[in-house]
This record gives sequence, C-alpha cells and structure tokens, in this order.
Amino acid sequence: MSSTQTQATVLIPGKLHPHAVSRIEERFQAVRIERGDAALLDEEARRAVRGIASATVIDAALIDALPNLEIIANFGVGYDVVDAAHAGARGVMVTNTPDVLTEEVADTAIGLLINAVRELPRAEAYLRAGRWSREGAYPLTRGSLRGRSVGIFGMGRIGRAIARRIEAFGLPVSYHNRRQVEDIDYRYYPTLLSLAEAVDTLISVAPGGTATEKAVNADVLAALGPEGVFVNIGRGSTVDEEALADALRSGTILAAGLDVFVDEPNVPEALMACENACLLPHVGSASVHTRQGMADLTVDNLIAWFTEGKALTPVPETAHVGQKR
Ligand code: 8YV
Repeated sequence: MSSTQTQATVLIPGKLHPHAVSRIEERFQAVRIERGDAALLDEEARRAVRGIASATVIDAALIDALPNLEIIANFGVGYDVVDAAHAGARGVMVTNTPDVLTEEVADTAIGLLINAVRELPRAEAYLRAGRWSREGAYPLTRGSLRGRSVGIFGMGRIGRAIARRIEAFGLPVSYHNRRQVEDIDYRYYPTLLSLAEAVDTLISVAPGGTATEKAVNADVLAALGPEGVFVNIGRGSTVDEEALADALRSGTILAAGLDVFVDEPNVPEALMACENACLLPHVGSASVHTRQGMADLTVDNLIAWFTEGKALTPVPETAHVGQKR
C-alpha cells in the first residue's frame, strides 16, 4: 500500500464499533465527529475526507459537502440511513455488511417468534416473582407454533435463513418480496396483503425506506386473524406502530415479537403497554462474534477500496460505481 493510501482520511460520524474504530485508526487518518453533519468540519477537513465509516445517518447534504468522498462503508446490512441513491448519482460507493450477520439475525427472529407465541419472557417473570411456588403452574399458553403457517416479508439472505429454520419446525413457508425469487420453492404472493390473508404468522425482514414505509398496516394485521402473530426483525419503519398497538390491544391479532422500532431507542407507550408483545432493544445481530464480523467487513471494504480500487460488498444502488478515482 502506498503512503497516500495509508493516509486517506476516513470520517467516523457518531458511535461505531470499537474494533472498527481501532482498525481504521491503524490504517487511515481517522476523523471523529458527533454525527453526520458537515457543519462539524472545517473546510480543510471537508476536502480531506475520502471515506466514511458509520452506523448513522449519512444524507445528501453531507455527501455533497465532501468533494473528495469516494466511499461510505455502512456498519449494518440495512443501509436505509444512507442516501445510497444520491451517493450512486455522485459516483460515491456505498457498502454494507451482508452474510456475516445472516444466521445470527435469523436465530434472533426464531427466538422472538417462540417468545411471542409461548410467552416465555412472561413465564420467566412469573417464576422470578415467586409466583410458581405461591400460585402454581404458569397458565397454559393460548399460542403454539403447532399448526401455524408462516409468511416471510422480505426473502433475501436473512429471509431464507429464517425460512430454513421454520421448515425444520415442520411449518409451511410462503413469502412476499419485491419480486419473486427464482431458486426457491416457497409459495410467492405478489402483495403483502394476499400473503397475510394466507398465513397466521408474519415475519418481517423487509428493509426500510419509502417503498416499505408502514407496509404492515391495519389491513395486513387484520388479515392475519385472531390467532395472528407478527414478528419484526427488519426495520421499524415498515410497520404502522399505532395500528399494531391497536391490533394487539383489541385482540385483532394474538401476539407480536419486535426487535426494531420507528424511533429507536424510543418505544411507543402504546406498545410498552401490550403484554402480548415481546419487545427487544434491536439485538438481532448483537453478539460479540457477529458484531466483530460486521466491524471487520466494514473496514475491509475501506481497505479493499483504497488498496485495490474495488469494494467487497457494494449495495445495488452503487454497483455501477467503478474503480476508485
Ligand atoms: C445493526 C441491523 O444493529 O445490520 C443491520 O441492518 O439492523 C443491525 O444488525 C445495526 O445496523 C447497527 O447499526
């Protein structure tokens, strides 16, 4: 690697995994700022920045304020926080962290599903409160996985990994996706509503963004029916949270398991009040092992770009962005 390559300036706005930060500090000139706001940089720093590594919002204004920006390495497979279309139009590469988190997130989805259906967190709370010895057995759960039919919204890598697990449970799988996936046999529904009408258990792995905003709405939830279970491991923005809280409160559906929310880390009071919702603080990929893999892939993309002129895992919106300038 030439000295100019080692000295490329990489901006780190907001918090980033410490392993990613220390690898960036070893290989590049790291500049840390509180958030993705160009006003936090002087003119010289703006001109110096050639790469960004982040897990936070990178909007068009920031991209436009950095005239020598070449690559944005997003920590996370979901990159709705990055204006990738704008980056692509400006010839700026965007990368994400696929594969390294697939199995972990699929595991978490299954955990959420079982927790929601079989009320395991509530049963544990019952034990810890001393109620088992005082009051006897925890009540039988109305919900069971037995006899369920599962629909997956978003049949990408993680959707497939969840489908494989559901198959092992002996349950039928069908799905809705932007387009039908060719090399799988699960039944495809061209709309989310038609999928919801056909199943009683819906697992959303859909990415965020305008195309999926509030896609899981009151009609979709009602279509799942009174035994309906909704699990969200994708993005909170894909759900109308008010409609979901109503559906949980009124018994329109039986239960939900949620790892993601619209305005994280703020969870709506209406959902907090629903005992039939199992709520997790966005821990889908949050093991030491998997976050280390995500941190490495984030930095490896920067290194590949600045040494070989190509990214390892470009997002589709910037797949056309070629050799670095
Ligand atoms: C991360 C995620 O927690 O990869 C994703 O898209 O949602 C999570 O695994 C998050 O991206 C970290 O910022």
